[in-house]
Amino acid sequence: MTQETRKTAARNWDKAGWRAYPRVQMPDYTDAAALQMVEAQLRRYPPLVFAGEARRLREQLAEVAAGRAFLLQGGDCAESFAEFSADNIRDTFKVLLQMAVVLTWGAQLPVVKVGRMAGQFAKPRSAPTETANGVELPSYRGDIVNGFDFTPEARIPDPQRMLAAYTQAAASLNLLRAFSTGGYADMHRVQSWIADFVGGPEAAKYRDIADRIRDAMAFMQAAGVNSDTAHQLSKVDFYTSHEGLLLEYEEALARIDTTTGLPVAGSGHMIWIGDRTRQPDGAHVEFCRGVQNPIGLKCGPTTTPDDLKVLMEKLNPDNEAGRLTLIARFGAGKVGDHLPRLIRTVQEEGANVVWSCDPMHGNVIKSSSGYKTRAFDSILREVREFFGIHKAEGTIPGGVHFEMTGKDVTECTGGVRAVTDEDLSDRYHTACDPRLNASQSLELAFLVAEELRNRRETAAPGKDVKAG
Ligand code: PEP
Ligand code: CO
Repeated sequence: MTQETRKTAARNWDKAGWRAYPRVQMPDYTDAAALQMVEAQLRRYPPLVFAGEARRLREQLAEVAAGRAFLLQGGDCAESFAEFSADNIRDTFKVLLQMAVVLTWGAQLPVVKVGRMAGQFAKPRSAPTETANGVELPSYRGDIVNGFDFTPEARIPDPQRMLAAYTQAAASLNLLRAFSTGGYADMHRVQSWIADFVGGPEAAKYRDIADRIRDAMAFMQAAGVNSDTAHQLSKVDFYTSHEGLLLEYEEALARIDTTTGLPVAGSGHMIWIGDRTRQPDGAHVEFCRGVQNPIGLKCGPTTTPDDLKVLMEKLNPDNEAGRLTLIARFGAGKVGDHLPRLIRTVQEEGANVVWSCDPMHGNVIKSSSGYKTRAFDSILREVREFFGIHKAEGTIPGGVHFEMTGKDVTECTGGVRAVTDEDLSDRYHTACDPRLNASQSLELAFLVAEELRNRRETAAPGKDVKAG
């Protein structure tokens, strides 16, 4: 037995152990035999990601925790079977790469890129049922669980959907791996996409930043650093993540890493625990504490310092950098009410965490036209509040977490190519929460980059930033 295996055994963890804990937000499958058949099949399938990759992401997140890198996490609220296509994957990837380049410029730091992609299927819901036209049905819980159609049949949880989700995730990852390394992600190409965006009249106000990025690239080229000589410019590290919500699926894809002897979730590089499933004594925390992947933990207005202490101890008992990312999601105007006390809890515990900002989930509103939406300005405001509070506390704002797509959807309002309440019905395609479209995503990256840049420039020289 390796030292680590002993450590795990001592921690008394088993991949099926979560079954003995209270579970919330998970479906009740009615056909136990069908469920078991699917689980057995998934156990035989190859993992989607490999332990070495998850460890590498953890190392990169340790750099984020130390303030030497910045995290960009983004993608769909819920991936769907109907919207699955090479074009959709490519377009989301393309926007994430552009955002990453802009943020790299702003932060003057490497950007760790993590997609909410290739596995982001299961959804927690605020109510167990939905009512329309006087008919009440079980809520839609993501394509991996049940169907979006508002019919009693579609809403029955079907374990076969896990196999379809696995297949879609595998095909998505295959394409993402090809895009990341096959030349598509070449920095020069990404820079030219950014130039196209700011070439449009609405986005002209970001042209100055785009020009500075272009000049930096031209300088490197002149100095002999180009895609042929510096491999770094022609390919990127790209990781996947999703909420580890459907534990039957997560358990079936958990594997033992042959290098360390430790368990690893094979469903994605990083998994996170949602705001509704973070009960310290619940099934989701129990599962996540035992896998060595980087873990995200959503922190909302109801997260108490006491819960956070217990959660940090359970999820990161060895206080390893890069293991735990706290994803703050309070809502614009509310960050100041909640974030400072949680930052202080982290400081008091001496805990090593990445602080990331999800400005999406605290900012959902119902538009006058009846659609669930988010206003661009609220999203931006929450990010600014997050940065401001970290500055005041002397801690590190490590990253951002967005729900976005590469498509020209009309789901969030605002932005330079302004989407209005009335426009929402035009291209409202999300299976769950409203996403930023391609233009809004890139614009937000420009604004966050300016913010990062200003903060760097106004940072008092010699003032140490506390770790945490
Ligand atoms: C999500 O990230 O899609 C989500 C449901 O977030 P939260 O758990 O923060 O509400
Ligand atoms: Co969401």
